[in-house]
Amino acid sequence: MAQNARHVHVVGTGTIGEPLLGLLCTFRKELGIDTISFNKKQALTSDRPKVRALMRRGALLAADKEMIPKFEELGMKIAFDFEEALERASVVIDCTPAGNTNKTQNYARHEKKTLGFVAQGSEFGFGKPYARGINDEALVRVEDQYTQVVSCNTHNLAVVIDTLALQDKDPGNLVEGRFVLIRRSSDISQDGSFVPAPAAGKHDDARFGTHHARDAWHLFKTLGYELPLFSSAMKVNTQYMHSMWFSIRLREKITLPQVIGRLRENQRVALTEKRSANTIFSFGRDQGHFGRLLSQTVVSVPTLHVRDEHEVVGFTFTPQDGNSLLSSVALAAWYLYPEDYVERLQPLKAFFFEEI
Ligand SMILES: NC(=O)c1ccc[n+]([C@@H]2O[C@H](COP(=O)([O-])OP(=O)(O)OC[C@H]3O[C@@H](n4cnc5c(N)ncnc54)[C@H](OP(=O)(O)O)[C@@H]3O)[C@@H](O)[C@H]2O)c1
Repeated sequence: MAQNARHVHVVGTGTIGEPLLGLLCTFRKELGIDTISFNKKQALTSDRPKVRALMRRGALLAADKEMIPKFEELGMKIAFDFEEALERASVVIDCTPAGNTNKTQNYARHEKKTLGFVAQGSEFGFGKPYARGINDEALVRVEDQYTQVVSCNTHNLAVVIDTLALQDKDPGNLVEGRFVLIRRSSDISQDGSFVPAPAAGKHDDARFGTHHARDAWHLFKTLGYELPLFSSAMKVNTQYMHSMWFSIRLREKITLPQVIGRLRENQRVALTEKRSANTIFSFGRDQGHFGRLLSQTVVSVPTLHVRDEHEVVGFTFTPQDGNSLLSSVALAAWYLYPEDYVERLQPLKAFFFEEI
């Protein structure tokens, strides 16, 4: 690590990149970051307001060298080209669907100087999978130069398993975990991919069903656990947050008050009496950071049920992408300050909610 300044570079300004930059800029001092920059791929007048707003928050704009004249022609001042930004960066957070490609084409040649590279949910295989609070103890300095923040739905699934089944760090307590991810068809920031009616997903993975259980399996595997998980997914005609039905069968006996007690004790879990995505989303829009709740899941308490003293079923809501944003910030802080990154994250607690 040659550079002294702590510089975080975010690649991509989409659904994840834009609010991530917002969080980093808001908490820059508390997190101990000196400078923040971001890469924009396309120079578009339609994206100019977003780029300018991020620059007003203190983030510096970078672009591919050949695109610089186009950006400047449109009145967006470039601070560095992409290569220079990577050269300066202590941590790079990739928020594109091309993280694995960027790894081989761009990041690999900066490995000597950069503390860490982070990619997002779609980029399976980029590096060690991570979700804040679930597998922090699995992170290994230097060895884990590449990490992958698991998807927002995988966070949801993982925190429910962690809270209900793994309190005693005994993976044998989880007899079976089954999940149905009920996904919004597109985000409010996206125009495409909307579906006119609920559309069921295929089970592409013979063992895990969909990638959600597979990704959660790999996440827990970093702790040495091999959990019996299976997931299904369907898209519904909404742009609000994803929801999830779960069934967690435990070896131990459990009661409903114990279930609620365990969930309440975990500060990364929000409880709610609400049962609709729109009322929870609306709370996030009004009380969250850039409209995001940073809790990892929102559990709908009236839907919780215990069957046969061993099986817990219920519905949860994925707090948009706030959980992935929190884990991305946590990894940046870990790369920069492995000794006290948890303390540095404390100001973000303002956007964790016990109750929604
Ligand atoms: N959307 C969610 O709710 C959500 C939740 C959790 C995790 N994730 C994960 O986050 C990642 C990004 O998803 P997103 O929804 O934020 O995507 P998005 O809204 O489509 O934004 C993608 C961004 O990446 C940039 N980009 C695309 N291809 C690029 C390339 N080859 N090199 C550099 N930049 C490139 C685009 O730049 P231009 O605008 O300049 O074209 C855009 O800013 C994915 O891994 C996804 O799985 C998404």
